[in-house]
Amino acid sequence: MIEIIDLAYLRVGAANLEEAVQFATETIGLQEVRREDDRIYVRGDERDHDICYVQGGVEQHVVGFEVASDIALEAAFNELAGAGIDVEWGSEGGKADRRVGNFFSFSDPTGNKFEIVLRPHKSARRYFPTRDAGISEFSHVGLKTTDALRDERFWTTYFNIHPNDWIGDAGLLSFDAVHHRIALFPADKHGIQHINFQVDSIDDIMRSYYFLSEKQVHIVFGPGRHVTSGAMFLYYEGPDGMIYEYSHGVKIIEDPNYRPRQYPFTPEAFCAWGAKPDIPEFRD
Ligand SMILES: [Fe+2]
Repeated sequence: MIEIIDLAYLRVGAANLEEAVQFATETIGLQEVRREDDRIYVRGDERDHDICYVQGGVEQHVVGFEVASDIALEAAFNELAGAGIDVEWGSEGGKADRRVGNFFSFSDPTGNKFEIVLRPHKSARRYFPTRDAGISEFSHVGLKTTDALRDERFWTTYFNIHPNDWIGDAGLLSFDAVHHRIALFPADKHGIQHINFQVDSIDDIMRSYYFLSEKQVHIVFGPGRHVTSGAMFLYYEGPDGMIYEYSHGVKIIEDPNYRPRQYPFTPEAFCAWGAKPDIPEFRD
């Protein structure tokens, strides 16, 4: 069993790096960390970076997960290799550009790319954005899946990942007490579906709602409150069609007897307040 202890970073392909970073800093409220070659790094917490934008498209999307030790990293590599999954150690250049001690990569059955990493750097300076959106941390990622039950089985078989609720077949999965760290999202191809940043309060969500509306940013869903995690949320669309989310108040599951709940795939199951996700299934 591979013990993931944290989300490390995302790598996100951008058709226009300048546009992606301008949106990240001026609209989302992230801080630009550095520029190297065809990469620009941004963050909203104590990590060295939360997102590394890379010149390209969805083929560049990667989710990084952290394990606790070099022994755990090697055991993880061997476990996946032993199960017949293609795994590949990272190069020296790859380690340097990711700011990690070591890593290897693999893909899930849908074709999403992942990296298991050791000792990702923290920043020695506090996060200091140019726009105060109230961001406290990068908390979860939405992942497209062509078969949610199959991909959930993949995560629960090899990793300390478990479902905390389902909406239809889509699992809300976690490796720790936070209600979800991965939200599976049924789709016809692979890719990161949304990127979540926690904010300090409902006031931050509502301030951003008016800020984004005034800037004519496409609001995809919300403001609302998830029935499953209890988090209040706002989803909006950035460059390359990437969806970003602010949320506050996600459930921390401390009850050892907690059992995942099955909800139907309906708008009501996504929002307790009545907001409808702007996705094809729910368009009138
Ligand atoms: Fe989310």
